[in-house]
Amino acid sequence: MIRTTTRAAPNFALVKYWGKADDEAMIPAVPSLSITLDGPEIEVSVEPAGSEATGDDVSLDVAPVPEPWRDRTQRFLDLVRARSEETGWAVVKARGGPPPAAGLASSAAYFAALAQASSRAYGLPLDPESVSDLARMGSVSAARSVPGGIVVLDPADASSGRLGAHTIFPPTHMGMAVVVAVVDPSMKPVGSSEGMRLTRDTSPYFEAWTACAREDLGRARDALEAGDFAALGRIAETNCLRMHASAMAADPPLVYLAPATLAALARVHSLRQEGLSCFFTVDAGPQVKVVCLEEDVESVRDGMQGVTGVQDVLVQRPGPGSLISPDRES
Ligand code: DP6
Repeated sequence: MIRTTTRAAPNFALVKYWGKADDEAMIPAVPSLSITLDGPEIEVSVEPAGSEATGDDVSLDVAPVPEPWRDRTQRFLDLVRARSEETGWAVVKARGGPPPAAGLASSAAYFAALAQASSRAYGLPLDPESVSDLARMGSVSAARSVPGGIVVLDPADASSGRLGAHTIFPPTHMGMAVVVAVVDPSMKPVGSSEGMRLTRDTSPYFEAWTACAREDLGRARDALEAGDFAALGRIAETNCLRMHASAMAADPPLVYLAPATLAALARVHSLRQEGLSCFFTVDAGPQVKVVCLEEDVESVRDGMQGVTGVQDVLVQRPGPGSLISPDRES
């Protein structure tokens, strides 16, 4: 085994993944399209455990540690060993990244970095497709934090159970930035996995949600191809609210939007009326991600800072993904 450290950052979807077609094989029910960010990066190292070890030693220096992470990490390492000729126990350490389980894509960043580090440590293939495919087994959205820029994960690409995400445009495409309005960074009461399972199993709108997904993906790709920011924004906002509508119709209902989330959405609308190029997206938590053009980033940041209930505003840019490069590995 080779001691390896890698970093990965969150990604935010403009066309969202919400629902699995196969829970065991971690195959999404819908295609998704996202932007991989340049931070905040989580750092994950994987190294061989000492000869006395009787199991893996996982130390997660993130607070608070989301309940499913330990079990998922254990299952993930078992899967890595099943695919490798190396069978030894590992010491895994993670630190940094966004606040966990708050709808800030911390698990996407964590499993992307873990997939990268453990692939290298256990001698598994390091091509982006294979690493992304492995990351998906930790958390489906993690597959999208492996490649950089604007990324697609499409279950139609699955073959023999393998499915990785790939870049469709580089990070610089259209000169976009992401302003994150943090409303409440504490853990959400119902995590994404449970929330999407409830939605699939109980929401009468889940079928309608999946029926729209492929068309939304096609329209988003066309808007990106044409460099049409306004069209991309319309599709992303509609797709986001369709996802939340399907979740709100679950039994029991899932409401991830807080009062300050709605105030932030209204502010995005008024900033647009004032002539700024920006649109919102919201994941399984109350945080609002505002995608804007680089030239408007300061004004959008100032605009979001003034929203009642917004605690913090962060600015991120599209990033390179988690692929191992000499200066990102040790
Ligand atoms: C709302 O990838 O966290 O952020 O695959 O069960 O781990 P699991 O779920 P996860 O779900 C992310 C859902 C989302 C939308 C998205 O990122 O596409």
